[in-house]
Amino acid sequence: MTALPLPSVEHPAPEESSLASSERIRGAWLAKAALFYTLFVILFGALVRVTGSGAGCGQHWPTCHGEIAHLPRSIETLIELTHRVTSGLSLVLVVVLVLVVRQLPPGHLARRGAWFSLVFLVFEALIGAGLVLFELVAKNTSEARAVVMPAHLVNTSLLMLVLTLTAWAINRRSPTLSFAGLPAGLMLLGLGVLVAVSTTGALTALGDTLYPVTHGVPLSERVQEVRSGATLLERVRSLHPLCALFAALYLFGVASYVKSVAPGQASLSLWVVLVLFAQLGVGVVNIWLSAPAWMQIVHLAVANVLWVLWVLLGLELMSGAAARARGASISRPGGSISSLG
Ligand code: HEM
Repeated sequence: MTALPLPSVEHPAPEESSLASSERIRGAWLAKAALFYTLFVILFGALVRVTGSGAGCGQHWPTCHGEIAHLPRSIETLIELTHRVTSGLSLVLVVVLVLVVRQLPPGHLARRGAWFSLVFLVFEALIGAGLVLFELVAKNTSEARAVVMPAHLVNTSLLMLVLTLTAWAINRRSPTLSFAGLPAGLMLLGLGVLVAVSTTGALTALGDTLYPVTHGVPLSERVQEVRSGATLLERVRSLHPLCALFAALYLFGVASYVKSVAPGQASLSLWVVLVLFAQLGVGVVNIWLSAPAWMQIVHLAVANVLWVLWVLLGLELMSGAAARARGASISRPGGSISSLG
């Protein structure tokens, strides 16, 4: 008996999408540009922190020193103003992205991803505004700042996640994800692990900004701040490297497991492992050099690359699982296209 000519799972009927292929390609470029540009803005934000330029525009937002068009007279103002302008441009990019994905069918993952990107970008701007208006910048050592900075980092992580999702999904006709099964569960837990490590990193970064480590102090003292009178931020310095080490074991284990159960994702898993080891190396050198500003920015950049790769690996695994589930549903006696979720 010949098999029924069912549409392929990877390439469903063309009428499923109203976005022409040239527009799709343009949309894919736009989504990737938004992702890379947002990474640049995040790193510029770290430059604002490490140079203590957060108060460069005074306690004013969105104006700078109360003026809409302000001519910077100090390097701090120039850095803060550039950060505001560049982050404003990322908002423009994401708004255009939201408009472009409106041509995709309702419920398409890229549409949801673009809308969530806009939501997290607006949150990002509000957190930035809060930092300036409540003066949680420059040499402010309040507890509120120690809460807001990790929250800021969690928001940027979520923003990068949804931008990655949008860039990944935009060129696919009807991408679906399956959250069932061990690999998906391990990948999702990995996201939580990375957020936890990054949160402790944000506290360490704030501590290094407010209480810079003296160059030449032995490594053991830098990791474990033991002198009496040390602040909480100095005392928790050892927390991040410790968490990172346990996290690295977990991420390495999961990436190796994924490589064995999904050979198609071997190269992506390998990239995750390579970047993970690079990040561990960068972290050690960071402490060794007493966390200079440029090294903090490199460390944050690699953390983001690792995050994006992990998200991509998760998406590939979950979409593969969804496609297999659909394939199984089609090949089951009585299975039909209409039963595909
Ligand atoms: C999975 C591996 C790691 C990840 C994902 C990670 C992530 C991060 C993140 C997101 C920050 C905050 C950066 C900022 O807000 O500017 C940070 C800070 C920091 N991390 Fe890590 N880290 C990892 C491993 C390590 C290791 C192994 C060490 C040291 C042995 C280390 C040392 C530091 C130090 C000293 C800081 C504060 C200075 C800075 O901002 O660079 N990290 N980390």
